[in-house]
Amino acid sequence: MKKIVEVAHKFIAEHQDLDIAVDFTCGNGYDTKFLSECCHQVYAFDIQEGAIAKAKTIAQRSNIEWILDDHANVDQHVGAFDVGVFNLGYLPGGDESITTNADSVITALDKALQIAHKPALIIIVLYPGFEHGKKEAKAIEAYVEKLDSKHYDVSILKLLNRKDAPYIISIDVKGEDEAVPFTIPFHLIIGDTRYSLSKTFVEFNKLDSYDVQKVMYKDLLSVTYVDQKRLSFTLPSNDTVTLDTSMVKKEVLKDIYMCMYLVRKRNGINEELQSEIQLENC
Ligand SMILES: C[S@@+](CC[C@H](N)C(=O)[O-])C[C@H]1O[C@@H](n2cnc3c(N)ncnc32)[C@H](O)[C@@H]1O
Repeated sequence: MKKIVEVAHKFIAEHQDLDIAVDFTCGNGYDTKFLSECCHQVYAFDIQEGAIAKAKTIAQRSNIEWILDDHANVDQHVGAFDVGVFNLGYLPGGDESITTNADSVITALDKALQIAHKPALIIIVLYPGFEHGKKEAKAIEAYVEKLDSKHYDVSILKLLNRKDAPYIISIDVKGEDEAVPFTIPFHLIIGDTRYSLSKTFVEFNKLDSYDVQKVMYKDLLSVTYVDQKRLSFTLPSNDTVTLDTSMVKKEVLKDIYMCMYLVRKRNGINEELQSEIQLENC
């Protein structure tokens, strides 16, 4: 059998439309690197500064946001995601007393299931080969076993003929996201005039020369890049408005990026998004 993380990566690679990833335990960065190569944006968590520093040397793409925080706080940093990876245990080559624990993993899982897109995939790699890891694995199994099968498929991949070998739990979040309007305050440039908008994206009304009414992301015809900083939205009327991303807060950019992703996905566009513009401009 391949190394267990390679199997986990294979699982993930088989899924389509994985746009936003969360590495809940970035450690040395090998999972983060893999995720950054198959997803448009990656949020990578670790509680150890040293781990993140090392991971940055392994995973160098600009679509990674490094988060020095407990993964139990995932909802404070991530709005939604398509694939999440928990590679449990301690940092290989690091301090073995700093290890994941069932309580924070279960809190993180609980929150992750609330913010996950539908469908989404969560992979957990567990290491029952040491005492703490065994207890952790038991507690996590007890938690995932209770997940409602109407909404989640929970499966396990385990070597039955090798005692205490590392193994994988995968959670498939079923279903399809409802189309929801986004609340996006932003700046529009029409001609040479910049309009600062703090109303909702869905409802902003008369704007001097331009009347943009009830534009919901699902009504947008397309979203494209004008240049590295500006996005062009084609309205239902076929007119376009331009968004200057450098004027937009990071949290808002995440919504806009999501909006852009949904519009492009609906339009069958799978080409790489320049999501790094978000990071550069924040
Ligand atoms: C087995 S390592 C991860 C290996 C890593 N994914 C890789 O590819 O190298 C586990 C990591 O989880 C981190 N960790 C432990 N508890 C954590 C927590 N509550 N939140 C975030 N990271 C945590 C540890 O610091 C450690 O670096």
